[in-house]
Amino acid sequence: MEITLATQPAAELEAGALVTYAFEKEKPIEGALAELDKAVGGALGRLADARELTGKALEMTLLHYPKGIKAERLLVVGAGKKEKFLRAELRKLSAAAARFLKSRSVRKLAFAAREDDRTAAAAEAIAEGLLLGEYESDLYKSEKKEPQAIDAALLAGWDGAARSAGEQGLARGLVLAGAQNFARDLGNEPSNKLTPKMLAARAEQMARDEDLDIDVFDEKKLAELKMGALLSVARGSVEPPRLIVVTYTPEKAPAANAPVLGLVGKAVTFDTGGISIKPAANMEDMKFDMCGGGAMLGVMRALAHFKPAIKVIAVVPATENMPGGKAQKPGDVQIAMSGKSIEVINTDAEGRLILADALYYAKQLGCTHLVDAATLTGAIVVALAGVNTGVFGSDEQFTEKVLAVAKAAGEKFWPMPLDDEYRDMIKSTIADIQNVGSGKGGGASTGAAFLREFTGDTPWVHLDIAGTAWVNDAKAWSAKGATGVAVRTLTELAMQLK
Ligand code: BES
Ligand code: MN
Ligand code: ZN
Repeated sequence: MEITLATQPAAELEAGALVTYAFEKEKPIEGALAELDKAVGGALGRLADARELTGKALEMTLLHYPKGIKAERLLVVGAGKKEKFLRAELRKLSAAAARFLKSRSVRKLAFAAREDDRTAAAAEAIAEGLLLGEYESDLYKSEKKEPQAIDAALLAGWDGAARSAGEQGLARGLVLAGAQNFARDLGNEPSNKLTPKMLAARAEQMARDEDLDIDVFDEKKLAELKMGALLSVARGSVEPPRLIVVTYTPEKAPAANAPVLGLVGKAVTFDTGGISIKPAANMEDMKFDMCGGGAMLGVMRALAHFKPAIKVIAVVPATENMPGGKAQKPGDVQIAMSGKSIEVINTDAEGRLILADALYYAKQLGCTHLVDAATLTGAIVVALAGVNTGVFGSDEQFTEKVLAVAKAAGEKFWPMPLDDEYRDMIKSTIADIQNVGSGKGGGASTGAAFLREFTGDTPWVHLDIAGTAWVNDAKAWSAKGATGVAVRTLTELAMQLK
């Protein structure tokens, strides 16, 4: 979809549909909507009086061939309560509009921003929303749905003084949506089309395109680095593991004490559970177990455009978790790169093993702040469902920062506990620690407590995205599949860290 700023007024734009939005209240027609209503002869006002157009969130009111505007349709999307209307709501309704119109074979749309939304942030939200909503993962369908895409979108409202704000916002929206859709593409790939080697090749291609530095370590190099925890998971598969390291270095050298942000993402390209094998039901979903890694690669792609002032390093350990003849077995003891010994009680708790070495390595590369994203535990899905990403941290200030950035970026993150008692629950009888909690419950926190062991005193935040990385049913604003969660927040975090 090509998105451009319009120069003509909304009513003059030729398109399959003109999209705008109405707020929820007694009489929703005012401001820019009132102007459009006048153009179409008061049809919207009559629909509002009849309580058909109410402005309720994501309500779709579609008029065909309305007189008075050049577009063939007028779509009014419900925007919900005006007091609660933020960037996230605008993005979501834009996405829903794109999906709604795509399903009606519209190939070109025009979008009329409301009178209060002629800002850079609004242009960003609309452009981003349209591209996220338009996204579909039908790569392997031999007969594509018609039409395959909305080709063009014109954004009306940013003329005159608002033009440069519109251009800025639009450019940002394109980058952010591109990065998220890149991460979604990776998440939606089946595991036979995205082995650790193939993921590394995709990362290399991306780094080449975006002019980022990249290193890919093979199994020999990982053995030299003594990454015993990562290698222990990879043992069960014939597909060798990879460690992907993507580096962004700012043009202007940062001060010696400037932060270096490490982004560590779990990339288990398929999680069978290993010898502690998972049940068959829904196991196919475990191709999504690399979404943490995919998110970090997406963030790097965005940062190549946004050029933050600080150095950012993504470290993505990639492996399959398979029950092959050489697979590690419950009770085995592994030595992580840090030297810590780990008793592997359950081979299905593999994410924390590969992250142990990746976090430790990121620290060795000089990262002063660490964030990891991982589809780590079923327990976080029990606690938060698909609504919130669970946030754990070792440093109150840094954790608060990540939560604040997420809130502003419109991603739902929620703080979770990481008391010392959870550390006690991963004590092992024969090794330094074990990879699952003893006793019952607290699975998301014991997982986080395990990771913390490898971060030392470096401020670190762990995002458990097991519930939020994937949507099982298509939503009005999103296709089924990988969501690209955390890309927007972590991109923004890199821009704000000083
Ligand atoms: N990738 C899974 C986490 C997961 C499970 C995500 C279900 C989404 C749905 C992870 O590797 C895993 O298997 N975790 C185990 C840990 C347990 C053995 C301590 C889990 O959560 O069951
Ligand atoms: Mn697992
Ligand atoms: Zn897993």
